[in-house]
Amino acid sequence: MSYAILVLFIVSLFILYTRRKSRQYPLPPGPRKLPIVENLFDIPTGGFIWLDYAKLCQKYNSDIIHLGALGNSIIILNSAKTVSDILEKRPLVSAGRPPATMLGELMGWGGAVIFRSFDDFCKAQRRMISQGIPPTDPKRFHTKQISATHDLLRVLPQSDNVMRSLQIWAAEFIMDVTYGLDKEEAQKYLPTALEALDSMSEAGTPGAFYVDQIPILKYVPEWFPGAGFKRKAREWSDLRIRMTETPFNATKERMAKGIAKPSFTLTALEQLNETQDSTNQIEVIKNASVAVYGGGSDTIVATLGSLIICMLMNPEIQSKAHEQLQKVLGPGDLPTFSDEPSLPYITAIALEAVRLHPVTPLGFPHTLSQDEIYDGYFLPKDSIIMPNVWSILHNEEDYPEPYQFKPERYLGTDGRIDPKVKDPTTAAFGFGRRVCLGKHIALASLWISVASILTCYTIEPELDEDGKPMKPRAEWYPGPTLFNHPLPFKCRFVPRSKDIETSLGVGAM
Ligand code: HEM
Repeated sequence: MSYAILVLFIVSLFILYTRRKSRQYPLPPGPRKLPIVENLFDIPTGGFIWLDYAKLCQKYNSDIIHLGALGNSIIILNSAKTVSDILEKRPLVSAGRPPATMLGELMGWGGAVIFRSFDDFCKAQRRMISQGIPPTDPKRFHTKQISATHDLLRVLPQSDNVMRSLQIWAAEFIMDVTYGLDKEEAQKYLPTALEALDSMSEAGTPGAFYVDQIPILKYVPEWFPGAGFKRKAREWSDLRIRMTETPFNATKERMAKGIAKPSFTLTALEQLNETQDSTNQIEVIKNASVAVYGGGSDTIVATLGSLIICMLMNPEIQSKAHEQLQKVLGPGDLPTFSDEPSLPYITAIALEAVRLHPVTPLGFPHTLSQDEIYDGYFLPKDSIIMPNVWSILHNEEDYPEPYQFKPERYLGTDGRIDPKVKDPTTAAFGFGRRVCLGKHIALASLWISVASILTCYTIEPELDEDGKPMKPRAEWYPGPTLFNHPLPFKCRFVPRSKDIETSLGVGAM
């Protein structure tokens, strides 16, 4: 007994010592904290908040700053070095996700890998996704990617809503990969998925719902004045259920009838381990499937949308791309993935779109699972870590003239991709143990779509009533949101040759 008391005493002393030691270190710099609310009114809540965070870092002359709000600790990392030191070199302690009362609890997205803390359920989903869409087997999806892209090529010249056509293209591909569903079915499920993704984006925006800061509000009944968020949560939860269950059940039904096409979900269902709890396994499969579907649609669409706008704004870059495509491909040929090494300028265009207009300019928030000391600062346990990806990708030292769309920056004097130039995809797809699981698929889809669109078309501005080119709309959703999506825009896809028309199998484009 006395031995146990001695051990307890030593442990208490150790805890006291480490706490005091932690307190010897200051928090990272940041705005002065008010009593109780701390920095509640300093937290940016409008649009393009990554720019506001970058300005705050400049103001306090630090690549790491701290904000507190109602007991929450928020740390902004504004450089590749701080992000690497904290999220990459301490992967296990920085792999958590902040609790999200609105999204996770009230809307029910808490099981989805992206919102999940780094627990066994999350790791099981990550494992399943890496096995189902392995980066080591990039060719597995090439046929599906090419088929969806050729459908897109046929649609674009007639499209009066480019972003919508891109959404259909991405859904067609990702629904096939995930659930083995064909184009018509993918389109059937698309409206629900888009609504559900919008609701996630709205609910996930920091400061959008007070219930995230004051979780006890979740107990307020729906009829209570001011409890509109509860009604919204119920409607949005219904969208989640429909987005998750409907395509999953369709695959299961086909599997039972023996007519299911190969897919991520089918493989996972076939590998169910009969000796283990099947309910938990089914939940893992369902959540992993919807993560592949949800993670892989809007992100690629936003990047390709931004890229098309950049082409519209930079006709001379299009001409250079056309030149290279003409040299490499025969008349009427459409590009395939085997052309990639010979088309570095197309690769450079894709990289530059990922850099200039990152879809997740603040990455995705991580959390710290223990107190940490970094560079003389105390970083409290449970702090929310926000990597300012936008700042990293607009850093003048790595990318001179960072606000210009300049694919040439990635090319060496031999015209090939220069390995000395920092690859923007290392920041754009997340960090440490939570790095994006679909990066290889996303980059391949982006590459084949850009190569194919530029092979077939010149992207030109809309014409006004007098036939004069109009100034293209190049604007991104002003938010508040954590995502960087282009607003709908109009342009013309002007065919480059008759041979291509024949290759696509269309009469008149
Ligand atoms: C341009 C396209 C894409 C971008 C920019 C992107 C970016 C990201 C980012 C920033 C994260 C969070 C990483 C972190 O927490 O540090 C993430 C997570 C994730 N992404 Fe992607 N992504 C893209 C496409 C895809 C695709 C095509 C898929 C699926 C096939 C996918 C599946 C996922 C999943 C499942 C996660 C959750 C990982 C976790 O929380 O552990 N993503 N992505």
